[in-house]
Amino acid sequence: MSSKTQLKLAPTVKLNNGYEMPVLGLGTYESKNNEGEKAVKHAIDIGYRHIDTAYFYQNEAEIGKAIRDKIAEGVVKREDIFLVTKLWNIHHEADRVEGACRKQLALFGLDYIDLYLMHLPVGYKFVSEEVLLPKDEKDVLQLSDVDYLDTYKAMEKLVKLGLVRSIGVSNFNSEQIQRILDNCEIKPVTNQVECSPALNQKPLTAFCKERGITLTAYSPLGRPAPAEQKPEFIYSPKTQAIAKKYGKTAPQIVLRYLVELGVIPIPKSSNVSRITENFDIFDFELSAEDRAVLDSFHTGVRLVPFNLIKPQNHKYYPFAIEY
Ligand SMILES: NC(=O)c1ccc[n+]([C@@H]2O[C@H](COP(=O)([O-])OP(=O)(O)OC[C@H]3O[C@@H](n4cnc5c(N)ncnc54)[C@H](OP(=O)(O)O)[C@@H]3O)[C@@H](O)[C@H]2O)c1
Repeated sequence: MSSKTQLKLAPTVKLNNGYEMPVLGLGTYESKNNEGEKAVKHAIDIGYRHIDTAYFYQNEAEIGKAIRDKIAEGVVKREDIFLVTKLWNIHHEADRVEGACRKQLALFGLDYIDLYLMHLPVGYKFVSEEVLLPKDEKDVLQLSDVDYLDTYKAMEKLVKLGLVRSIGVSNFNSEQIQRILDNCEIKPVTNQVECSPALNQKPLTAFCKERGITLTAYSPLGRPAPAEQKPEFIYSPKTQAIAKKYGKTAPQIVLRYLVELGVIPIPKSSNVSRITENFDIFDFELSAEDRAVLDSFHTGVRLVPFNLIKPQNHKYYPFAIEY
């Protein structure tokens, strides 16, 4: 048997438009200066097919290169990869959307994106392509009042143009999703939000599921930057004991728990052994008892509350209601 046929891929979920999305992806925030290229190449080699990027991460060129190189090597075909990227908040005006998307495609060096997400329902003032966080002289982030529905309608055109296969949203609350559904022609396929054992998003996941929308889980490991963040759900002796029982690591237990909740985690790593570790979660199942232990870590506290926007009481700030 060749190494290719031995490769185990992640299961996929069928989206509301018929496309399949792998239930585990690679996050790439802060994977740049060649780290992103190396991470994505290794990830593809070991079986990841879902890669999450964004205009904001400024790594689309190196990630595109990694994907193109793996296609050229014959490791994958373009249709094997599920590439996600996001429309940044400075590009919310309807007449900027197509240009932003085309610019991202040019950076990738690819001719379509699998899934294009609106990064946030709140737009930022456009100053230039390079100013991603426009601030005034008092260091206050400059927001815009563009209606995310107008932005979404411009994203629908990208599907019709064949530039993107699916569209979706990120950091949207249930009311905002409902407003999109009540007014759209093309349904969003996912809502990408923070989701970990500490913020397990059960109500939002159920809400989305009833409407044929998946929930993608960002910061699934609670960003355990060793110096600053030591999430209890990973470091607790309770999780360590569960990990020992299954012969797995605590991050693997957490990722498995999220997959069993029916969400799609996209853990970020640019370390080859941790990229491999995070993918190795499809050969075991947690018991109901162990899942209950992980449920007990839910606090509802966000690590990513978008603090630059929060104090401004913007009408589209998504986290002012329960979910
Ligand atoms: N839509 C949005 O607004 C939004 C917001 C935030 C994130 N995201 C997306 O979601 C992805 C994941 O979220 P995140 O990056 O915030 O946080 P995360 O995936 O929860 O955590 C990433 C951190 O955990 C470390 N790590 C990864 N695997 C590990 C393991 N097995 N053991 C120990 N440490 C491990 C990584 O370091 P190493 O690299 O050194 O392994 C990195 O410091 C992002 O990269 C991005 O693609 C989207």
